[in-house]
Amino acid sequence: MIRYEAGGGIAVITIDNPPVNALGSGVLEAIEAGIARGLADPSVQAVVLIGAGETFAAGVDINIFTTMTTREQSLALSDAFHASLKNIEGASKPVVVALHGNALGGGLELAMSCHYRIALSSARVGQPEILLGLIPGAGGTQRLPRLCGVPLALDLCIDGKPVGAPRAHAAGIVDQLVDGDRDALLAGAVAFARARAKAGGIRRTRDLSIAPADVNAALDACDDRRAQLGKTATPLLAPYAAVDAIKAAVTLPFDAGSARERELFADCLVSTESRALVHLFFAEREAAKVPGVPKGTPARDIRRAAIVGAGTMGGGIAMTYANAGIPVLLKDMDDAALRRGMATIRRNYDASVAKGRMTADALERAMGLITPTTSYDGFDAVDIVVEAVFEDLALKISTFGDLGRVTRHDCVLASNTSTLDIDALAHASGRSSNVIGHHFFSPANVMKLLEIVRGRDTGPETIATSQKLAKRLGKVGVVVGNCFGFVANRMLLQYLRESYLLLEEGATVAAIDRVMTGFGMPVGPFGMEDIAGLDVGARIREHLRAGGAGTAWPESAIANRLVEMGRFGQKTGAGWYRYESGSRTPLVDPLIDTLASEVSAQRGIARRAVPDEEVLARLTTALANEGARVLEEGYASRAGDIDVIYCYGFGFPRYRGGPMFYADTVGLPTVLARIREYRERFGDYWKPAPLLEQLVGAGRGFYRLKE
Ligand code: COA
Repeated sequence: MIRYEAGGGIAVITIDNPPVNALGSGVLEAIEAGIARGLADPSVQAVVLIGAGETFAAGVDINIFTTMTTREQSLALSDAFHASLKNIEGASKPVVVALHGNALGGGLELAMSCHYRIALSSARVGQPEILLGLIPGAGGTQRLPRLCGVPLALDLCIDGKPVGAPRAHAAGIVDQLVDGDRDALLAGAVAFARARAKAGGIRRTRDLSIAPADVNAALDACDDRRAQLGKTATPLLAPYAAVDAIKAAVTLPFDAGSARERELFADCLVSTESRALVHLFFAEREAAKVPGVPKGTPARDIRRAAIVGAGTMGGGIAMTYANAGIPVLLKDMDDAALRRGMATIRRNYDASVAKGRMTADALERAMGLITPTTSYDGFDAVDIVVEAVFEDLALKISTFGDLGRVTRHDCVLASNTSTLDIDALAHASGRSSNVIGHHFFSPANVMKLLEIVRGRDTGPETIATSQKLAKRLGKVGVVVGNCFGFVANRMLLQYLRESYLLLEEGATVAAIDRVMTGFGMPVGPFGMEDIAGLDVGARIREHLRAGGAGTAWPESAIANRLVEMGRFGQKTGAGWYRYESGSRTPLVDPLIDTLASEVSAQRGIARRAVPDEEVLARLTTALANEGARVLEEGYASRAGDIDVIYCYGFGFPRYRGGPMFYADTVGLPTVLARIREYRERFGDYWKPAPLLEQLVGAGRGFYRLKE
């Protein structure tokens, strides 16, 4: 875990805890022991601390956080970190830390307790604890503002984004930069340590203070940040705790400020939001491990791609590839369709340039990577084709027949279908093991989720290639099974069904959307349909009606009427809401209430005021019940995969952990009791998933939540 080597007056301590040198149980203690050994050795004048492998340290081992069940335990954990770092900082010989790769979270806190910091220019430092619903708990909120000032400390602790070593150097977090590799870094750190030992004196971060002239500005920065937080929709605990802790660094002496940090850290660590975020950290990484695809399964290199279909999805997918530097052919039926598709792509890129998210050069580079075509010429040279034609099974089958003929035998053939049968497409291609679903979410160049759908015969190499590619495209890839709607849309259909029924019972479009955005969704179910297009939902219902999914699904007479009226959503200026020309602001349309009243009357439903709690309970319970079914039928490998899908695909609030984790926090007995009650009230479609009944019977949740 720790290596100690002394020579030439310098002791070098190496943290060797692969893969990321996380500060797991015993690691800090071993570092302390190494430093004590250096202090006790008269031949050692200074100590250098460095990480083995590719990185310094990615923080405290996050697994430790999952074992903290009480606030007292959390406080004791933070006490122990503080004591170790105080001890290291108190060393009587210079301790120089050498940073490469990442110094994140507890890794940066450890570095700040050392006396001097040398970094490779390519290194990154940061306090990403906020992404886990936490604040730094090992003195980070006290030492960081002393080194770099309050505004940057607030940014680092509240935004959670790391900064590069050059910025950290300019800000005072890093004392010296070194170019080159880890060997050059070590040599630089040893030379620096010798020079410090010779010069005498030690600089300890805890002894630095914010200049009296800067105190008022620092306090203003804290107050401004707090006010900004007040404007965000969701009042989370950790960002406020970070402001309070950093403010304590300004107003209190180091030890008192540290005590305040420990209390705030402990509050955060036992919060549900932190548990949810830690759960997602691991769920996301677990999702990369796919049953039947062992580690080391060869993944093909994707150097060239082709997309079939230059509509909204095809264009967005082409942009995603171009953004990753992969040249892409974009095929459509005729020049007019291609011109429209390319014009939309350019318009989207122009908007990014206008917002300062992209340079004009990068725009031209990306456009240069997309080649429009109306033929299959060049398809024999691509490594992957993504089919994104109209959502029609016959059309897709014929496209896959073509693709089987025009591509190389090892080319991955992916479909962006959101609901249709991958096996039917695989059969049509004549190359089943290469066929897979790549279900992007709209807008494809923005949304992070890629649902990777394995068919009956999809080969492990095709899956491994898709996972590696997802990462390269900047997506989170989750492998799912081949059922109607896969995981994301299958669950979404139940959520939408319940929304439609609530409407018929008397809830309004605006109220349902308000409840769900209040819960933390970026948009409510009706606002979402207006963005996606009501025509898309209508086509899916048509397919279901024709027996495509082999299951009885409910209708929405109101949605069907809107589609008949040409109200497809934002793109036609009206759907569930009205839109002024050129605006995306939804305006309530009384027509919907009129339609809803008519449908309620026809169906003999007595309209009533539906309480907000019922809206939330029914929509989230619909998700959990269908999620349980997906799980027991094996279309998702684990509950965590569903949570990752929902958070990245539909913006389910991460601090609630995803629909399955959220169900656990509500309590599965409550969820099951609700389903039974709804079944009595609304009918048999509310059947509890057998898995849910089993879990409740066994006194378990989807996860083993620690109380
Ligand atoms: N504690 C425990 N395990 C950690 C960890 C930590 N702080 N940081 C990373 N890991 C593990 C991951 O779980 C993963 O394990 P696995 O291979 O068994 O799935 C492995 O290290 C590699 O991490 P991964 O995220 O897949 O690699 P990456 O190269 O994409 O990213 C980091 C590396 C360091 C940027 C990223 O892991 C990260 O952000 N880590 C968390 C940092 C953090 O929040 N620290 C604050 C804690 S105080």
